[in-house]
Amino acid sequence: MSTTTTVSQFLEEQRVLIDQELDRILPPEDTVPISIHKAMRYSVFAGGKRLRPILCVETGRLMGTESPSLLRIASALELVHTYSLIHDDLPALDNDDLRRGKPTCHRVFGESTAILTGDALLTLTYEVMAEPGLATPEQQLRIIYELANATGTRNGMVAGQVLDLEASNQAADAGMLDLIHSSKTGAFLCAAVRCGAIFAGSAESDIERITVYGRKIGLAFQIADDLLDVLGSSATLGKTAGKDDEQGKATYPALYGIEESRRMAKLLVQEACQSLEPYGKAAGRLQELAYFLIERTT
Ligand code: IPE
Ligand code: IPE
Ligand code: MG
Ligand code: MG
Ligand code: MG
Repeated sequence: MSTTTTVSQFLEEQRVLIDQELDRILPPEDTVPISIHKAMRYSVFAGGKRLRPILCVETGRLMGTESPSLLRIASALELVHTYSLIHDDLPALDNDDLRRGKPTCHRVFGESTAILTGDALLTLTYEVMAEPGLATPEQQLRIIYELANATGTRNGMVAGQVLDLEASNQAADAGMLDLIHSSKTGAFLCAAVRCGAIFAGSAESDIERITVYGRKIGLAFQIADDLLDVLGSSATLGKTAGKDDEQGKATYPALYGIEESRRMAKLLVQEACQSLEPYGKAAGRLQELAYFLIERTT
């Protein structure tokens, strides 16, 4: 990959590769039962930046590995992510009608199919990750553990979603807000880069460094998401703007204000980039991506 490629060109090139892999992974629409395969494809291909797979692949590259198997494992991360969005949008959670610029899964296919579509995508993720021969069995097991742990109930995504719901219309303090955001979004983003490093067979010291980067960009990413909810429009975001305030969500702008939230996100990104300094220029792309996460408009 030429270093003169801009970050947006890079993201677009990677997105195409990941979408091609997702097309190979997902059963064709005419597979019985047709309704669920239609819904799975509808939500996965509605759009999406594919940031988690891209971060995973780029971390593998930094650690010296580029392979079709890593692309496959990285792409499977997008299935978990899409499941989390489908469930996040359900009437019982955030009750959203718009996602990735299209009506949400439950609006198109009904609530029961949407719940099962989330279940199906989550299950398919682990089916792909356990496919024989993608890496050594030890590496695959470690990656599966990593992902399950980061998206579960002990400081993982489901924990964060539970705390997010319980904190609605309650006064969340700084510690609780940090816990919600680091759990619901940060842990999974961090796992994406760790999985790339594990796949590459990285030394523990390298995995540690990438973990610092992952934790910091993970939290910064959710602060940026909160800011976009306040500052963005539904048309640009492809999801309903202004929902957090309406639903009394615990967010960085609500607790700290816009400017302080921006400052905190930027500081986290600076620290994330510093943690990769030992790699010199080779880490340039991950550092650019970290800034992209907080400068993005969608
Ligand atoms: C949105 O994630 C949900 C959060 C975890 C905040 P993204 O902003 O990565 O959504 P897509 O995949 O691009 O639609
Ligand atoms: C969702 O956070 C995080 C997930 C685990 C899906 P949000 O509820 O803020 O995400 P959006 O704004 O609906 O994408
Ligand atoms: Mg939510
Ligand atoms: Mg939501
Ligand atoms: Mg949000």
